[in-house]
Amino acid sequence: MSKIRSVVRGVGGYLPAHTLTNADLAKKVDTSDEWIVQRTGIRERHIAADGEKTSDLGLAAARAALKNAGIGADAIDLIVLATSTPDQTFPATAVTIQDGLGITRGAAFDMQAVCSGFVFALATADQFLRSGDFKCALVIGAETFSRILDWSDRGTCVLFGDGAGAVVLEASSDSGERGVLTTKLRSDGRHRAKLYVDGGPSSTGTVGHLRMEGREVFRHAIGMITDVIEDAFAVTGYNASDVDWFVPHQANKRIIDGSAHKLGIAAEKIVTTVDRHGNTSAASIPLALSVASEDGRIKKGDLVLLEAMGGGFTWGSALIRW
Ligand code: UT7
Repeated sequence: MSKIRSVVRGVGGYLPAHTLTNADLAKKVDTSDEWIVQRTGIRERHIAADGEKTSDLGLAAARAALKNAGIGADAIDLIVLATSTPDQTFPATAVTIQDGLGITRGAAFDMQAVCSGFVFALATADQFLRSGDFKCALVIGAETFSRILDWSDRGTCVLFGDGAGAVVLEASSDSGERGVLTTKLRSDGRHRAKLYVDGGPSSTGTVGHLRMEGREVFRHAIGMITDVIEDAFAVTGYNASDVDWFVPHQANKRIIDGSAHKLGIAAEKIVTTVDRHGNTSAASIPLALSVASEDGRIKKGDLVLLEAMGGGFTWGSALIRW
């Protein structure tokens, strides 16, 4: 029997209706459109409405991905949701999405690897599908970072936005080379105080706010990202020139362009959404995938390279034959 692979059947995204521009932010804190664009590439971000929760965003993205796949929710037996902004400490936000889709079988759970969450969730779902334990997975990244920002801290509040993206992955043993080819995951907890939330159920009993030593995160980002991509190339035998689309985590345009340049990936192969979405943490990669798939850039058979780096530090890459 030929090898089981996890094949992408569909992708979808959801962005809250309200957009917050750099000019809007300049009215709240001492910043400017010029500074934000020059340092990050961000022009605007979406912000969830009052009462709009991470599960609402994730559910909308999941429905869009199922529609794109042409697959009914009854086919799904695994939901892995990457989020650092769950509706509640428990139950997992994934079960709220599961219930919203009317699914009563299989398993649904959350994963937490901050901005690397989607790559960690994709790797987890891929393992379960290839083991034969599950057949069809929704891998979702959904975040409402606006709820954990300190809106008086200009060093962080200008960077993040809300949104969700989802991918339908199906186990297939006759898909040729299509599917997830490899995933590489890394963590190093020595860096955990460089990007964190200053609250939590077992420490303060509060939700807390995001705190970041931006310059320190920036200093490590490109090296970590390129190392884990080189690992993915080494194990698959592909190289930068084979990649059709580079879909990085969208934190900062300078990090994205610097990583692509170091790896030798041509600028026209980079999918960039950070200008319109800001950093949506675990949602940024599936949102970018949905944009580039909807506008016809990513097509069946393309070699798609994903990477992310974030709090922990955590970082990871994935190579997918679309
Ligand atoms: O997704 C998870 C991973 N997160 C990231 O990848 C974020 C990584 N870090 C970054 O993207 C960048 O470090 C930032 C965009 C956060 C900051 O850019 P930077 O070029 O590293 O700026 P900096 O922190 O070195 O700050 C430079 C100056 C400082 O002023 P002084 O000390 O030079 O007078 C800051 O106080 O810019 C000031 N500054 C601002 N000025 C206007 C910081 N934030 C702002 C702001 N508007 N919003």
